[in-house]
Amino acid sequence: MPQCFAQLSDPHLTSLEGVRRRDLFSKRGLGYLSWRRKRRFEHRKEVLEALQRDLALSELDQLLVTGDLTHIGLPQEFEQARQWLQELGKPDKIALVPGNHDVCVAAPWRETLALWQDYMSSDSGLSIAQETVGFPSLRVRGAIAFIGLSSACPKPPLMATGTIDSEQLSKLPALLQRTADAGLFRVVYLHHCPVVGKEKWRKRLTNAPEIQALLEENGAELVLHGHGHRAHYNELQTHHGYLPIIAVPSASALGLHGADIAHYNRYQIERISGGWQVSINSRRYRPAVGEFCEGTNRTLQINRSH
Ligand SMILES: [Fe+2]
Ligand SMILES: [Fe+2]
Repeated sequence: MPQCFAQLSDPHLTSLEGVRRRDLFSKRGLGYLSWRRKRRFEHRKEVLEALQRDLALSELDQLLVTGDLTHIGLPQEFEQARQWLQELGKPDKIALVPGNHDVCVAAPWRETLALWQDYMSSDSGLSIAQETVGFPSLRVRGAIAFIGLSSACPKPPLMATGTIDSEQLSKLPALLQRTADAGLFRVVYLHHCPVVGKEKWRKRLTNAPEIQALLEENGAELVLHGHGHRAHYNELQTHHGYLPIIAVPSASALGLHGADIAHYNRYQIERISGGWQVSINSRRYRPAVGEFCEGTNRTLQINRSH
């Protein structure tokens, strides 16, 4: 029986209308100007409403949201995003990792990320021992293990980089190993691109070399990310076989400034002899009809011995 899940990224769903001047110190001021001049025309409510209608059409085991729900990570944006998540579905159906915009400056956890905690938590009571709070997160649905990494941390002005902290780096190999031993299809999801040299220097994952080496050593079956607001396909050769790395564009974009128009991806995973079959159905926003429609389809065969 195939299993279905979807990934969306970078909805940048919040409005900064009416924010207080005193909230716009340091990096947030630059982010506010960028929203005022460009981003509010690019990331649109009507696209998000179409997204919601389209998502409601299919039953998913899990919806992965790979960060950048906000523009400048203000507490009121976290609240707006929490309400949006609640409209989208229950926390056990939606698994979230934050993006660089969500953590653009240091902010009190209880006023920001704590509001999304239910959507970032791991399953409780898993036989594969795992803490329920913090990253890497782990949710198991049928034959699929969803492993979330956070690359979001405050960086200097004008930098959109990310870093996976040393605690996550130290826990990830054992988690990948345990989920492989359990015969699961391992989906790793994060905001930044983990492949070295595929992203602009200003937007890169600073420790991509370590993450890439770790994936090559321990394997995974699929890696999903966002951040670049462009569709992208890469592959890594791992000790377990080839590993597709797929980037999805922003889920709310009109594509006005060279980025791709809004997309999200649906995945269907099926165990086949000698591995897995992965069907990818890309859903693309069409402004003429104001709805998400069928985009490209692709099927991959992932050979695995476990
Ligand atoms: Fe983004
Ligand atoms: Fe980003």
